[in-house]
Amino acid sequence: MNNFVYDIPVKVYFGENQLGNLGEELKKYGKRVLLTYGGGSIKKIGLYDKVIAEIKNAGLEIFELSGIEPNPRITSVNKGAEICKNEKIDVLLAVGGGSTIDATKFIGAGAFYDGDVWDIITRKVPVTNCLPIVTVLTLSATGSEMDAGGVISNLETKDKIGYMHPMLLPKVSFLDPTNTYTVSPYQTACGSADIMSHIIEVYFNMNQDLYMLDSIAEALMKTVIKYTPIAMKEPENYEARANLMWASSWAINGFINGGKRQAWSCHPVEHELSAYYDITHGLGLAILTPRWMGYTLDETTVSKFYQFGCNVFEIDKNMEPMAVAKKSIEMLSDFLFKTLGLKSTFTEIGIDDTNFSIMAKKAINGGLKYAFKPLNAQDVENIFRMCL
Ligand code: NZQ
Ligand code: ZN
Repeated sequence: MNNFVYDIPVKVYFGENQLGNLGEELKKYGKRVLLTYGGGSIKKIGLYDKVIAEIKNAGLEIFELSGIEPNPRITSVNKGAEICKNEKIDVLLAVGGGSTIDATKFIGAGAFYDGDVWDIITRKVPVTNCLPIVTVLTLSATGSEMDAGGVISNLETKDKIGYMHPMLLPKVSFLDPTNTYTVSPYQTACGSADIMSHIIEVYFNMNQDLYMLDSIAEALMKTVIKYTPIAMKEPENYEARANLMWASSWAINGFINGGKRQAWSCHPVEHELSAYYDITHGLGLAILTPRWMGYTLDETTVSKFYQFGCNVFEIDKNMEPMAVAKKSIEMLSDFLFKTLGLKSTFTEIGIDDTNFSIMAKKAINGGLKYAFKPLNAQDVENIFRMCL
C-alpha cells in the first residue's frame, strides 16, 4: 500500500428521527442560516417544514436560496454567494441531493471571494475559506455529503468542472434513509449507477497489495447490486434505502482510495456529456462504464476483471480469466440495463456523434493519461462510438 493521509472530519447523524439535533449543530456556527435547496422536492416530501421548524426552534434566522438545478449552474452559485455577503450568513444548510450540496460548497467558498465564483472552479483563484456547511441528504448517489468535491456547470461555455478542496467538506451531514423514500425508481437507478461507478473508478487499478480495501470495495458493489432493485420495487424498504445511503457515502469519502494514485476514467468523460446534453450523471455513467470496460480489457488488465467477476458477480473461478472478464462486463450491463432498466445507448437518449471530437478533447484534460488504462482523445472518441 502507498502512504496516505486519512482525514474525513464529517460528523454523521445516520438514521430516522435525528433531525432534532439540527438546531444545536447549526448554532455552533452562528445565527444566520442560508437554507439551500432544489426544485421543490423537499417541500413535497414535508422535509422543508421540518427543517424550518428546527431552525426556528433553535432561535436562528433563516434566509433561503431555492431552485438549484440538477447539474447545478454557476449562476445559482453566484446568487448564493451574493446572499452570503449581503446578509452576513454564518452557516449554510443544504437540503437535497448532490446538486444542492455541490452548489452549496461553492457558495460557501464564493462568500469569501469578490468576483465570479467560476474563477475558483476554473482555478484562476484559489479557495481561501469556506462558510461551514451542514447537509440533509435526500438522494443516495454522489457522496457529496461526505466528500470534499463538487461539480458545477456553466451553460455559456458548455463546461462542467469538478473541484476538490478540504475546506469544502461538510461539517455535519444528516443521513436519514426515510428522506429517500420518494426518490423515483429512475433516480434511484441513476444514483446507484453513480455509486457503483465511484467504486469502480478506484477499484480498477493494478496495485497488487490492496486486499483489505478491495474486499471492502467488493462488498460495497454487492450492496448496490443487492439493494437497488429492492429500493426500486419497494421505495419504503428501510433496509434497502439505508444500505444504499451509507454505501453512497463510503464509495467516495476517500476511505477506499487508500493511497491509490490513478486518475478516474469514466467521470471526466461523463461530465462532458452532462455539459453538452444536460443528462443525468448516473445515466451517462451507466452507458459509458461497460463500454469503457470492454475497451480497456486486454492481457494486461484481465486479472482485475477476473477478480471483479469472481468476487462481485460470483462467476466460476475455474473459467479462463478472459472468459470471466467478458462475462463480468456482460453481467454489469445486465444489471444496469435489464435489472435497473436504464437506457443503454446514446441514440436512445438523443446523443449523436456531432460533439464527440470536442468532448473527447475536453475530457482528457481530466488526467486520463494517468488512468487505469491511459486514454487519449482518440480512445475517448472510440468509447463514445461504442455507446451509439
Ligand atoms: O431539485 P429537487 O426538486 O430537489 O429534485 C431532485 C432532482 O430533480 C430530485 N430529488 C432529490 N431528492 C429527492 C428527489 N425527488 C424526490 N424525492 C427526494 N427525496 O432528484 C433529482 C436529481 O437530484 P440531484 O441532486 O441532481 O441528483 P444527484 O444527487 O445525483 O446529484 C447529481 C450531481 O452531483 C454531481 C453530478 O455530476 C451532478 O451534477 N456529482 C457530485 C459529486 C461529488 N460532490 O463528489 C461526485 C459525483 O460523481 C457527481 O459528479
Ligand atoms: Zn459520480
